[in-house]
Amino acid sequence: MMAMPMVGRAPAVEELRRAWSRVRAHREPIAAVVTGAAGTGKSALVAAFLREQEKTSVLAGTARVHSPAPYDWLAAVLAGRDTRGLDVPPDALSWLKQDPDVPRERYTPDALLRIAVSVVRHLVGRAEAVLVVEDLHALDPASLNLIAELATTDLPALLLVTSQPPGAAVSPQLTERTLARLGGTPGAVRRHLSGLLPAEVGQILQHVYGSEASSPELAEAIWRRTEGNPYRLTELLAVEGADVLRTPAADLTAREREVLGLIAEGMANKQIASALGISVRTVTVHVSNLLRKTGAASRTEAALWALSGRRSGDHQAGWRDNPRAARSQSSA
Ligand SMILES: Nc1ncnc2c1ncn2[C@@H]1O[C@H](COP(=O)(O)OP(=O)(O)OP(=O)(O)O)[C@@H](O)[C@H]1O
Ligand SMILES: [Mg+2]
Repeated sequence: MMAMPMVGRAPAVEELRRAWSRVRAHREPIAAVVTGAAGTGKSALVAAFLREQEKTSVLAGTARVHSPAPYDWLAAVLAGRDTRGLDVPPDALSWLKQDPDVPRERYTPDALLRIAVSVVRHLVGRAEAVLVVEDLHALDPASLNLIAELATTDLPALLLVTSQPPGAAVSPQLTERTLARLGGTPGAVRRHLSGLLPAEVGQILQHVYGSEASSPELAEAIWRRTEGNPYRLTELLAVEGADVLRTPAADLTAREREVLGLIAEGMANKQIASALGISVRTVTVHVSNLLRKTGAASRTEAALWALSGRRSGDHQAGWRDNPRAARSQSSA
């Protein structure tokens, strides 16, 4: 599959650019916190921004192991770096680099935090730097504390942090508190990424399959299948290839929409039949047609399809009308 073009994130990239130019103008730290569910494009956004910063010094780290050791972010930053010139106690440095067999007991937590801050200070040096903290939600408590601490120093650094929502974190409360601490620092930027819009999904389809291959209806149908999540979209395109173009664009009849509305309210076919005054057999036919058209694998999935449509009613025609109103109209 052709690589997907980056869509829909221009305002977010622009916001990062502005934060970065403030760092350079005022030579003080600014935190930029990008949150979003798994696969919404946080890393892709960071990468797009960093591609523009060719000559910038970048310190990047992330949680590397499932249950990260203390200061795992810093250890990731230090990995493979020449640290000989650093003016910190060698045993503390070895410990921060997670060398095996180095006891930590010599240092109190406060002393280690001070040492960790001074290591970062040395690495940053005089020029402005971008400190990238990927997947803060997966980091250890010592790293979280260090990062919040760095945001209150006088380092001329953009602290570019990505995180899934605290609910997805190893320690939700600590993650939430750290995000709040970072977000509360002067000049902080906060960006929550949601899924792409149907039109943006359409742009990607056009790019990959050409303009003839894509219609708003198809974009809409694929958007529903992926909820606009870029990761799910890449997966879908990788698995289905050009077959994805055969996704039925949902053009439900008024009756099918009514039936779907009642499914979403939790009704069984029999209840739907009596609510609409039609036979159970007819309901069955409507149900199978609407499953086919929406591409849903089950009633539950179709119900979710209906509900997601109502939540974001601006994006598509049809679901703005209330099924109850439609019902009373059609029975009149
Ligand atoms: N705006 C976008 N336009 C096109 N493709 C995108 C966009 N954002 C992300 N992608 C693609 O979607 C996939 C997932 O994106 P990414 O890895 O950045 O998500 P993430 O939010 O960092 O996920 P995680 O929380 O799992 O780290 C990648 O293949 C990426 O290239
Ligand atoms: Mg990521």
